[in-house]
Amino acid sequence: MNTDAIQVRPARSDDRDPILALHLDAFGDDEGPVIVRLVEEMLDDPTADPTYSFVAESKKKVVGHVLFTSVTIEPASDSSDVANAQILAPLAVTRDLQGEGIGTHLVNEALKQLSAAGVQLVFVLGYPNYYSRFGFVPAGARGLQAPYPIPEQNVDAWMVVELQADAIESFNGEVKCCRALDQQKYWVE
Ligand SMILES: CC(C)(COP(=O)(O)OP(=O)(O)OC[C@H]1O[C@@H](n2cnc3c(N)ncnc32)[C@H](O)[C@@H]1OP(=O)(O)O)[C@@H](O)C(=O)NCCC(=O)NCCS
Repeated sequence: MNTDAIQVRPARSDDRDPILALHLDAFGDDEGPVIVRLVEEMLDDPTADPTYSFVAESKKKVVGHVLFTSVTIEPASDSSDVANAQILAPLAVTRDLQGEGIGTHLVNEALKQLSAAGVQLVFVLGYPNYYSRFGFVPAGARGLQAPYPIPEQNVDAWMVVELQADAIESFNGEVKCCRALDQQKYWVE
């Protein structure tokens, strides 16, 4: 698909229902309801602020969504610097249009906007083969630990990308997410 026809823009309050429907469709019957509940909780969670929510739109229809919520880094050693950091979760593209470049376009555009807003680091727990295209690298090996231990076989799924030069080197410690996401059940796979 030519992604020129896909518009990426910040989500508005009236996008909420289409966004929830999109996640239900994209994640399917098993995982969908869990993700929908999580998205609702994150959107209503004051500890997630500031949040960044972007939709991909085609012909006035929401076909993709990505949410970023705030995280803090609890330093392992004394440090007075506070990171401006976010976590990407979740990302979804409508089932009929998956594999056509929309997710890639959406994440690239969203990361550009986060960078312009001064965000230094973005974390994700996801498919390494997918997220490496945006510059994400394994985070644990760089001293940035996940909120819960990641099983050894998935350790590379915990990743970070720096949006400002040298941001990865500047911070270390354990990442703490918003209350909605800070539950072990979201970190076991
Ligand atoms: C994952 C997802 C967001 C990707 O968006 P997309 O628009 O389909 O992806 P793109 O067209 O930009 O990129 C396609 C690539 O994604 C990869 N991909 C898609 N789903 C994948 C999966 N479940 N595991 C690993 N890679 C996957 C494809 O292999 C393809 O790789 P290639 O470019 O090397 O051929 C979308 O497929 C989706 O919504 N899936 C269901 C929800 C989900 O699993 N979200 C995970 C993120 S939290």
